[in-house]
Amino acid sequence: MRTKASLLFVLAGSWGGVVALRSGKYCFEGCSYTLNCVDFNDTNPALSRKIRTCQSVFRATSLYLCLENYCTNEGRTEWLRGNNETCQKKTKQALPPYDIIADYAGDMDAVRRLKAEEGMCDGAPITLGEATIPDEPYFERAFRTLDAAFFEEDIHWLYAMAMYYFWAIVIAVGICTRLISLIRGLQHQEWLPVPDNESNHETANRTKNSIRSLPYSLLKRHIIIPATFGYRCSQNIHWCTIPPRIQSLTIASFVLLNIVLCSISYPVFSGNIFWPEISAQLWRYVSDRTGIISLANLPLIWLFGTRNNTLIWLTGWGFGTYNNFHRWVARVATVQAVVHSIGYTEMVWESGGWRLYTKYWYKRYFWNGELATIFMCAICAFSVYGLRRSHYEVFLVAHILFSIIVLITMYYHVEIFNGEWNIFIWPSLLIWVFDRTLRVLRILAFNPRFWNTKCSATYDPSSNLVRLEVPCSQSFLRPKPGSYYYIYALNNVLFAHQNHPFTLAYVTSSKNEEDMEDIHTRTSSSSHRSSRPSSHRTSSTTSTESEALLSSSSSSRSPSPSLVFLIRPYDGFTSRLAQNSASTSTLKSIRVFIEGPYGETVPLHTFPSVLFLVGGTGIAVPLSYMHKLLTSDQSRVARLRIVWAVREHAFFVDVLQRFRDLLKDERVEVDVHVTRDVEGKDDAIVEEIEDVEVVAGRPNVDAAVDEAAQEAGRGRMAVVACGPGQMADDARRAVVKAVGDGYRGVEYFEESFKW
Ligand SMILES: *[C@@H]1O[C@H](CO)[C@@H](O)[C@H](O)[C@H]1NC(C)=O
Ligand SMILES: *[C@@H]1O[C@H](CO)[C@@H](O)[C@H](O)[C@H]1NC(C)=O
Ligand SMILES: *[C@@H]1O[C@H](CO)[C@@H](O)[C@H](O)[C@H]1NC(C)=O
Repeated sequence: MRTKASLLFVLAGSWGGVVALRSGKYCFEGCSYTLNCVDFNDTNPALSRKIRTCQSVFRATSLYLCLENYCTNEGRTEWLRGNNETCQKKTKQALPPYDIIADYAGDMDAVRRLKAEEGMCDGAPITLGEATIPDEPYFERAFRTLDAAFFEEDIHWLYAMAMYYFWAIVIAVGICTRLISLIRGLQHQEWLPVPDNESNHETANRTKNSIRSLPYSLLKRHIIIPATFGYRCSQNIHWCTIPPRIQSLTIASFVLLNIVLCSISYPVFSGNIFWPEISAQLWRYVSDRTGIISLANLPLIWLFGTRNNTLIWLTGWGFGTYNNFHRWVARVATVQAVVHSIGYTEMVWESGGWRLYTKYWYKRYFWNGELATIFMCAICAFSVYGLRRSHYEVFLVAHILFSIIVLITMYYHVEIFNGEWNIFIWPSLLIWVFDRTLRVLRILAFNPRFWNTKCSATYDPSSNLVRLEVPCSQSFLRPKPGSYYYIYALNNVLFAHQNHPFTLAYVTSSKNEEDMEDIHTRTSSSSHRSSRPSSHRTSSTTSTESEALLSSSSSSRSPSPSLVFLIRPYDGFTSRLAQNSASTSTLKSIRVFIEGPYGETVPLHTFPSVLFLVGGTGIAVPLSYMHKLLTSDQSRVARLRIVWAVREHAFFVDVLQRFRDLLKDERVEVDVHVTRDVEGKDDAIVEEIEDVEVVAGRPNVDAAVDEAAQEAGRGRMAVVACGPGQMADDARRAVVKAVGDGYRGVEYFEESFKW
């Protein structure tokens, strides 16, 4: 110990001022690296390189001198011990002790200096019969090269993790806002409704409240509710759908984060020993960075794509929101995979042209990687809105098939790293398996004898509507307001493995009159939710739902309760369903799996005032909520208004009759706008049936929202849009305006199901 200490003192004294000492592991590694391609003649050349490296006293001396010369001694003992152990394990040779350099202490300048040209591996190997010290420029290059390379390795990992931090923050904000709005819902009850002749105390209270609610209402007006740009949100723009502003901002932040993290922290320099050219260093670092971040994004894609993830439940954001996240994370990951592939292709090309490139295609990790990128692109191509809409099943089958291929090829692509990067593959698979398992459990919960679920399909050509009736007496889970189900039809080969989400229309019950109440409690109805950008697109075009509804009420006296789905045939599954049921006259029994119910119930019961803006079969939504809103003890609803645009006069008459009891409630007000079957001028009151105003022509959404907001005053009000895209967009705009006009309690909900 004494010798070591005095030695250090001597060495530090002789060179300390000359060279700025480097610290850390990469200084030691840099010293070691400079000697990698130098041969020393004090070992037997017949022995393996490994043994000679551990055995050579010249080499050890050179290494130790380098350490003394250029590095601080912090961590050196540990580093040497590690190397020593490796040597002893692999070659049964111990490294010579450190104090062999004591002899050189006084005579450092006489030691031979090693130049980069001599030491680097790409030149002719030299053999030395003495110890040497890399000269400073050579050492610096080696140190910086290793330092940069290992820095990159760490930073790739850190930036990959940033994806998870980002989404953790987003989800945390979601959970917080949900909690806050729940708390607000509790608070506001106390000062509502506000009487006309309020006291000073109440006015003060109100001002306080209004000051507190200002930031939130500004947020609502400018960030949370509006469409991203101007007006369109539920309606598609050409082949694109654009999410609401709050989602677009989240997604934009995510994309920006990815761009930034793929563009920064590249310590390139000329003289890098691994890649002398700056461009080569950039290719390499950027390719690795994009590859790793792309890989890190994979589990997020699967997480956001599952049918019912816990996040939906925690944040209250619907499937549509997560579906948008799913798509954008997938797009970002795909672009990153493309950059990664192009980068590696370029690097291979650069170093060996076409010949080397074809050689690489025989390497398993290489061709699997290229395939993974190609199939990721294919998934994106097959998911464009237009194809999703027109050929939903092509989209679905391609999506699942290609996803499996991507997972498998990714697995073989990262296999070469001894499982280090598998940590992103397995979670993806796990999430997928878990989701599928839950789905199977849901099918079992609907009917334990799942193979024996039969539904009857009736097609009415005049209404162009298929009515599916599924007995649900076995169902373990009861439908809630806003529930929807996935249906897998099995009878026909064509039908196999296809499933679509459908909103429950209503539940029929047995003949007994006492069950009538049960019908009402569980009634809901609606349109085909799947394969459309917005389910309620369909509602406006559905012509005679009325007939289907009417016939159901007379023919549905089946002995056990059934779920009824009203389906408009458009394409693939639904049109085959129509043909199938049409060709065999009226009733056709189809074997199905039913998976459900799904869907979050919106907490409308916390609002004193609720306004539904409904198009066509979207009437399902208010009907499904109404019973709870009007009868539950927890409900605060004092005013429930429904503005309903419907084409068929008979449709609404039927609904009116089926739900007479509920509609008669004094809190309920229904405005029906019949758009086709009624002759007459716009806005003329055509008739009044059981207190329901029937008007010809389209409803004025802006006016309806404005009027309801005025009536609600400072109170909280929920506006729920359940209609075609245009109606939803009108409603969204009207709510933004109302909030801007000072009606801060107005909240907007959209009951649509985007794919
Ligand atoms: C390596 O280990 C041997 C045997 O344990 C020891 O004599 C030698 O000093 C060690 N060398 C270094 C550099 O620590
Ligand atoms: C190694 O080289 C040195 C100088 O070049 C020479 O003096 C010495 O004899 C050589 N040793 C062996 C073992 O060849
Ligand atoms: C989704 O899963 C959660 C549990 O993670 C469950 O509580 C919830 O009811 C499910 N929601 C739907 C719509 O199935």
